[in-house]
Amino acid sequence: MSVRRLAEDSVQPAAFAFHPENAEWAEATIRKYPEGRQQSAVIPLLMRAQEQDGWVTRAAIESIAQMLSMPLIRVLEVATFYTQFQLKPVGTRAHVQVCGTTPCMLRGSDALKAVCRKHIHEEQFHLNASGTLSWEEVECLGACVNAPMVAIFQDTYEDLTAERLEEIITLFDAGKADEVTPGPQNGRHLSAPLGGLTSLTGDYDDLTSKSSAGPAQGASAGAGGAASTPPSQAGRPDTHAPETDPTIDAPGKARNGNVAQPAERETSDELTEAGSRPGSGQTGGTYQGPTGAADKEEASSGGGSHTGADAVPGGQARPTLVEGLRTDTSDVTAGPVATDGPSQMAAERPEGLLDAPDGPADDLKQIAGIGPVIEAKLNELGVYHLRQIAAWREAELLWIDNHLNFRGRALREKWIDQAKTLSAGTSRPADA
Ligand code: FES
Repeated sequence: MSVRRLAEDSVQPAAFAFHPENAEWAEATIRKYPEGRQQSAVIPLLMRAQEQDGWVTRAAIESIAQMLSMPLIRVLEVATFYTQFQLKPVGTRAHVQVCGTTPCMLRGSDALKAVCRKHIHEEQFHLNASGTLSWEEVECLGACVNAPMVAIFQDTYEDLTAERLEEIITLFDAGKADEVTPGPQNGRHLSAPLGGLTSLTGDYDDLTSKSSAGPAQGASAGAGGAASTPPSQAGRPDTHAPETDPTIDAPGKARNGNVAQPAERETSDELTEAGSRPGSGQTGGTYQGPTGAADKEEASSGGGSHTGADAVPGGQARPTLVEGLRTDTSDVTAGPVATDGPSQMAAERPEGLLDAPDGPADDLKQIAGIGPVIEAKLNELGVYHLRQIAAWREAELLWIDNHLNFRGRALREKWIDQAKTLSAGTSRPADA
């Protein structure tokens, strides 16, 4: 990796200013970011400055620092870190960035660098005699599967040989860059195998036509009756998450609820019918009472599958299974989300919570899964003795589990069984 420093003073211009159209673009770009976050525009502005002048000058860095109210050192850090920014004048027709990282090196990048030395300059970052070409070695540019490769300005040229790179450089130097097609230079399509597919070689239309049900679910019949590839559901947003609400104009601020789009609504309804709840790692936020119409109706009637409200410390009531009530996913205005417990049983506040230990408190840490922090929290709740836990029913353990936001861990770790065994004076259960 090369040291990246600003160009010597002799080539640095005295001042920098965006051309009027670029200045207008820069102002619009800065306005995209929230108040106080305008510094996020530093990379786009540096790129536009480079596109305007061919390289990033010191004057441009200083000007952008002023525009964004950033310390100069912060803009310098960005400009000198990313190899996409040219800190010295580069060739007017091509600046060849040769990837020298391991996959490209193993596939022949040394030969590509030799071509650059021969046709451009012995040293990287130096212009050729006519000032039209320059080159440098860079780190991985993300096209390793098509190694070796180079980047020239905003395009990449992959699956290169030394001979092909010579041809490309000659065409660029002659002003015939348009005659070179970016991408693989060996004839393959993107990163598909050069000799054709080696797997998944079946014809999708054949597969679907053999099905008595016609096109696969989600596929639509194309022209002439041929089935098209069904749309992928990969990466679709979770429409139960409030942050995916398109009506939210600021984090945590919902105006009209989480309005699902038509295509999303189908998926959400399926999930709701299936009684799906947020997966592991998702949180439902703080419960503030039923807000959705379905929740309100259910809460007022107390019927259906709702299991009722539990008293929680502080006297506030909290329903235990509310997500299943959301039969209309357009009515999810910051509504409550069920805790992610494994059981559909109703959690019940344990009987016999104590204000103080009844004699010496037990070491609750004897239970696998309880450490000092959890023990302190249990003590705060009024749990000091193994016999208290041993006397619980699962519903009571679930209440504790919910209270500690354990997502079923207390049940999985069988605290009740462990407490019974320990209370009986035997060792910790082996299967706990
Ligand atoms: S190693 Fe060369 S593109 Fe990744």
